[in-house]
Amino acid sequence: MTGAAATRFRTRGGRYVAGPRLRLPAHRSSSAVLGGAYPFLATPPCDLGVPVGVEAFTGGLFCFDPWALYGAGELTNPNVLLAGVIGQGKSALAKSLALRSIAAGRAVYVPGDPKGEWAPVARAAGGTVVRLGPGLSTRLNPLDVAPGVDVHATRGRVLAAVAALTLRRELGAAEQGALDAALALTEEHDASPTIGSVVEALGAPDRAAAKADGLRVEDRVADGRDVTHGLRRLVRGDLAGLFDGRSTQNLDPHAPMVVLDLSGLGSDEDALALAMTCSAAWLEGALLATSAKRWVIYDEAWRLLRQVALVRRMQAQWKLSRAHGIANLMVLHRLSDLDAIGRQGSEARALAEGLLADCSTRVIYRQESDQLAGTATALGLTRAERDLLPLLPRGSGLWTMPARTHVVHHLLHPAELAVVDTDAAMREETDLGGGSR
Ligand SMILES: Nc1ncnc2c1ncn2[C@@H]1O[C@H](COP(=O)(O)OP(=O)(O)OP(=O)(O)O)[C@@H](O)[C@H]1O
Ligand SMILES: [Mg+2]
Repeated sequence: MTGAAATRFRTRGGRYVAGPRLRLPAHRSSSAVLGGAYPFLATPPCDLGVPVGVEAFTGGLFCFDPWALYGAGELTNPNVLLAGVIGQGKSALAKSLALRSIAAGRAVYVPGDPKGEWAPVARAAGGTVVRLGPGLSTRLNPLDVAPGVDVHATRGRVLAAVAALTLRRELGAAEQGALDAALALTEEHDASPTIGSVVEALGAPDRAAAKADGLRVEDRVADGRDVTHGLRRLVRGDLAGLFDGRSTQNLDPHAPMVVLDLSGLGSDEDALALAMTCSAAWLEGALLATSAKRWVIYDEAWRLLRQVALVRRMQAQWKLSRAHGIANLMVLHRLSDLDAIGRQGSEARALAEGLLADCSTRVIYRQESDQLAGTATALGLTRAERDLLPLLPRGSGLWTMPARTHVVHHLLHPAELAVVDTDAAMREETDLGGGSR
């Protein structure tokens, strides 16, 4: 302390009160120097898990593993939200987290890859890619359920979810009854039923089963009419050939990585939602078949948030994450993507807000200036953290966890670069324009 006036205390009526204020000159220094001078003020390093990159303020290594951090009491749940504007390196981070986690014994599941950019990652990890789209030979039978689960109940849930998606509404009790009876009838004759055989059974119900439920056959047919129309879209309509036959590929629950490549579906949001719903039954089985800790990565999650039925399914899975050892990773552009799902106060909006609340790690990459206030409020950021968001360079993000915050630059290994590169098309154009370089 220099010759500046030190704080003096005087007593007034037996109580100490502060004297004149300190008049010390302000001292400015870099965060790295201050981190050394005042280590008790710097957040301790995050060194549990796989290496991610460098901590911007300390230059130290930053590691992450939601299971290890949850076990150490640092996280209240293993789920992660990752948000940032286009091209900042969100997918690159998700992909290298996936590859590094697999090397550490974790498994990875990508239930929907609308851009088709995860296939090279799965190949690099020795995983499986299922490519679905019109004109492709791959079929996924949503009624293929792994042994170990309640097969009839799981199939019934998938059928109801698929029908609700195609009808764009929830099913009534009578419709549920008709669907359940049709499934039971199909299962009597066929060990591996398909949606096509359930549609047939909806049109020709079993008389004795209907009577046992106090119904005439005609009433049961009428109860299932709308459901029949909804499911028929998958058999003879615009979505025929994707989910209406036996599966052409067996999904191995022990594969280190499974990717459902939906780039062949283009911008068809209905088909995207259906494909993700149809693959859900497989996931449920796989989760029970193995005890591996598994990342479930929703890249481009903002597209899924447009479908309330999918958000509902995601939320149910979020709730089960701890029980099944799943860590969900949801990738968005901005937090206001969550607003797109519905009005404030609506059920859909509450579901989306629940998803955000259930992510105890939030990784925020660069945000546009009009998003700063909303992001800061939703995530409870300090003024300094908020002001940092528009300045973050590609690959750098603000990582917030319940009791710690870090600014991390994600380091890509040269071997990973080839797998995560999504800029190739842009560079090719530049090369053509710029001649040989
Ligand atoms: N940490 C990093 N270091 C170097 N290059 C990076 C890094 N992160 C990303 N890149 C490069 O930036 C490009 C864009 O990255 P990426 O596709 O991951 O962005 P994104 O945020 O997912 O974009 P989008 O919103 O369009 O999906 C890629 O070609 C990738 O190789
Ligand atoms: Mg991306």
